[in-house]
Amino acid sequence: MNARIVVAGSLNADLTIYCERLPMPGETLHGNGFAVNPGGKSANQAVAAGKLGAAVTLIGAVGQDSNGDMLVASTGGAGVDVSHVQRVAEPTGVAIISVEDSGENSIIISAGANGTLSPAAMEPALFDGAGVVCLCLEVSLATVQAAAQAGHDAGATVLLNLSPYAPVPAELAQLTDVLLVNAHEASQFLDGLAMPDADAPAAAWHGALSAFAARGLKQVLVTLGAQGSVVLDSSNTAEPVVRIAPTVVRAVDTTGAGDAFTGGVAARLAAGDTLIEAARYASVAAALAATKKGTQTAYPSVAEVAPTLNGG
Ligand code: RIB
Repeated sequence: MNARIVVAGSLNADLTIYCERLPMPGETLHGNGFAVNPGGKSANQAVAAGKLGAAVTLIGAVGQDSNGDMLVASTGGAGVDVSHVQRVAEPTGVAIISVEDSGENSIIISAGANGTLSPAAMEPALFDGAGVVCLCLEVSLATVQAAAQAGHDAGATVLLNLSPYAPVPAELAQLTDVLLVNAHEASQFLDGLAMPDADAPAAAWHGALSAFAARGLKQVLVTLGAQGSVVLDSSNTAEPVVRIAPTVVRAVDTTGAGDAFTGGVAARLAAGDTLIEAARYASVAAALAATKKGTQTAYPSVAEVAPTLNGG
């Protein structure tokens, strides 16, 4: 079926220093490389889905600067419709990123132009015919709420990536069809409820399943880094908890791997997969994304995912 995806949210220039290990508070370290890459969770998710064959529209804002040019070129180059990415007076959003040799990263963002993306930009007509809407929390909650409402009203499946973490108003939770969280965000959302160990069996996840359902969230994907992910779906009585095994790779840079996962889930849901099928596919895409430096430039195509997905 291949329904259209609307991604509404952030675009950032990622200023990345590669280093042997992440610095401690107050510590200065020598890095061993620097790069400016296109990033921002929403732009990354849009590119990930676009590279996986989805028709994607991105709604966002960048500055009238070279970073904005880079982001429009990167997202547009992946086939994403960027005609609703505004060029505003504020500078393009920036992320300061450190990536250590293990591939682990730390990120601080400065919203810049992303902070100007208003609820009014979420025009209902932009969501007409959308099958999936992808959201994260790098733009204002009011804007996310407006996009979720427009997506819901259009009959789309609304995906909310709860990153960077913020408490979710009940109205936004009600509009969310699929919540995407890492274990830390899941625990924060559930008022500190501890998540099972990453290698725990599926049965250990029933407490979290019930806690999410009690908050109105029936479908939740919990990513576990190198340990894979878990699909929690209280609307699926046959398989309410499914562990997705990790795709084992040598991680070089995990920045944006979660966005590759979200974009992959969106692409496969738009293509008609079940949530479990979509999570399996996205898990491979995210693992492959971590094998190269950067985010959007590292995301795999359908042809690159296929051999690993099929056990190659
Ligand atoms: O998820 C990774 C992304 O987070 C980076 O591209 C950075 O821009 C921040 O938004």
